[in-house]
Amino acid sequence: MSSPVHTNGSQSASGDAGSVPPAPRMPLRMTINGTPHQLEIDPRESLLDVLRERLDLTGAKKGCNQGACGACTVLVNGRRINSCLTLAALCHDAQVRTIEGLSAPGGALHPLQAAFIAHDGFQCGFCTAGQIMSGVACLDEGHAGSADEVRFWMSGNICRCGAYPGIVAAIAELGQRKLP
Ligand code: FES
Ligand code: FES
Repeated sequence: MSSPVHTNGSQSASGDAGSVPPAPRMPLRMTINGTPHQLEIDPRESLLDVLRERLDLTGAKKGCNQGACGACTVLVNGRRINSCLTLAALCHDAQVRTIEGLSAPGGALHPLQAAFIAHDGFQCGFCTAGQIMSGVACLDEGHAGSADEVRFWMSGNICRCGAYPGIVAAIAELGQRKLP
């Protein structure tokens, strides 16, 4: 019995390689950490890839790339999102805030960054930018009134090092003393 013939996906039916047409480009305008940006993007690009690969904003991390870990969390128009699952094209004219834009202009740490240090809220640091951006939103949402509340509303952010006690303590502390 003969085997079915499988063609290489990168070749056309007629067998000529390299004939895949280039993806169409589209303009994208976003304000990131207060700075306006104009880009030409592939409409299939994720916000995470645009931030990391085009703009060198590598604070947001690509952990799972499928919405399961929260390492890529950034704020879009004040709401926390998984940037790996968000098409950059959907962020046209949006205000984007990343970990790079969190500290004060003079370099002073955001209170939540300082609280993460004070409470040992990290180990390897891979999840930390996502944890902090999600924590900032958690505080803004008023979902940080107790450790239990923080644990619930931060459940989309995974830490493989298990630094949860410090993460929860840092956010809950600020939740109880109201952020500026
Ligand atoms: S990298 Fe986006 S949720 Fe894991
Ligand atoms: S500090 Fe290592 S994954 Fe969270």
